[in-house]
Amino acid sequence: MPITKRQITLVQDSFAKVEPIAEQAADIFYSTLFKYDPNLKPLFKSDIKAQGRKLMATLKVATSGLNDLDALVPVLHQLAERHVNYGVKAADFTPVGNALLHTLHTGLGDAFTDEVRQAWVDVFRLIATTMKGHSFP
Ligand code: HEM
Repeated sequence: MPITKRQITLVQDSFAKVEPIAEQAADIFYSTLFKYDPNLKPLFKSDIKAQGRKLMATLKVATSGLNDLDALVPVLHQLAERHVNYGVKAADFTPVGNALLHTLHTGLGDAFTDEVRQAWVDVFRLIATTMKGHSFP
């Protein structure tokens, strides 16, 4: 499932629209995630606001890095290794991906078109597959 140049542009442009409301977006993300899967809550041990900022910062690095996948892959592998230590399982990527889509939809409103949604689905799948390819239980 290779992603297209247009999908990269759609993801980067739509992420730029959510960035100014990053803090709210992070709040929506975590409340949605814990609604979808309450079992994940105990995995998050540090301050959720700080965690939200880190998540948005990393999503920025990941989405900006889509133009140069060779450089992005080792960054995602290191991120994956840390996530194994947090107790994250491969299956947990599904509720996380769904919470992300819900957050983007809420933040972008009508700008979250079917095409933008599909671009995020494909990009999240690429990131998740790259991370999961790295020793997840
Ligand atoms: C697109 C995929 C993901 C990205 C970009 C991402 C990003 C991050 C970042 C930047 C951190 C901060 C610490 C660090 O850099 O190691 C973090 C921590 C964490 N992430 Fe993720 N993550 C992703 C997927 C997931 C998934 C699928 C889960 C499953 C529940 C998850 C659960 C956690 C947990 C439990 C922590 C540690 C929280 C704590 O110490 O309180 N992440 N993540």
